[in-house]
Amino acid sequence: MDFKDKHILITGATAGIGKALLEELMNRGADKIAVLARNQEKLDALKTEFPKVEILAVSADVSNPKDLDRAISEIEKTWGALDILINNAGVVSAGALEDISDEDIVNQVAINLTGPILLTKKCLHLLKKSNEGAIVNVSSGLGFIAWPFYNVYAATKAGIRQFSDALRRDLYQYPLHIMTIYPTATETPMMKNAAVENMDDPKMVARVSLDGLINKEHHVIFGGEQRLIDIELNHSDPDVIDRKAIERYDALRERTEKHRAM
Ligand SMILES: NC(=O)c1ccc[n+]([C@@H]2O[C@H](COP(=O)([O-])OP(=O)(O)OC[C@H]3O[C@@H](n4cnc5c(N)ncnc54)[C@H](OP(=O)(O)O)[C@@H]3O)[C@@H](O)[C@H]2O)c1
Repeated sequence: MDFKDKHILITGATAGIGKALLEELMNRGADKIAVLARNQEKLDALKTEFPKVEILAVSADVSNPKDLDRAISEIEKTWGALDILINNAGVVSAGALEDISDEDIVNQVAINLTGPILLTKKCLHLLKKSNEGAIVNVSSGLGFIAWPFYNVYAATKAGIRQFSDALRRDLYQYPLHIMTIYPTATETPMMKNAAVENMDDPKMVARVSLDGLINKEHHVIFGGEQRLIDIELNHSDPDVIDRKAIERYDALRERTEKHRAM
């Protein structure tokens, strides 16, 4: 896939994995990138940081349908085209279910799942016109294996995995490649309060993900060989994974106690 002259929309590219994806796309020739995120200052800073790229900054909340309508109409007005949509923006609020506020539950589902579904729907009329397009959805290793205390987050990430697969089959007649990526713990602002060591580098995640897109992979799964074995076991013999979860229960409770990035 040639990224030059492609019209690309990435949500949440003002930080972390999204920003690394933006930079890697630029390194590979992309020159028109729309970024949707909430914080206007961080959006403005992207234009200074990446002057070689035409950045169309849209301050919007992915969980607000009216914001999404405004974002799409800005893209239509400015470019009249869209080739690649990357649904990357996401939030997390971990903990025992009864300790997560109602607001955090509603917002995790709205930002991580309902928002990307709505945004994809609203982009489809443009994406369907592309001669070589793509939809990339960012799930998580937790979208395959749900560890304790990531109950709501894992549900949203499994949802996005299924959404991707269904969409690929819905849209098989269009030249749109639909791919899901499953990062493991990656060193980004989202993980600031997660107390995890040896995290992946977001630049590596971006590089491997874009290699996956070029190679037309459907799923780009991080976490090494053991993650693939565990995914298989989670399906064929879930008791094994349950036992692993019990062994790690106290450590996971401690690790997730302050893990909130909303
Ligand atoms: N880091 C990890 O370990 C890890 C592992 C697996 C999966 N993931 C997934 O990877 C994706 C990126 O994560 P990250 O770690 O890079 O996160 P991050 O560092 O917290 O960055 C999140 C980005 O999303 C934007 N965002 C958050 N809520 C938004 C909303 N309601 N509307 C629009 N934009 C919003 C943020 O900008 P504003 O705050 O300005 O809106 C920011 O640009 C997420 O989907 C996450 O679930 C991350």
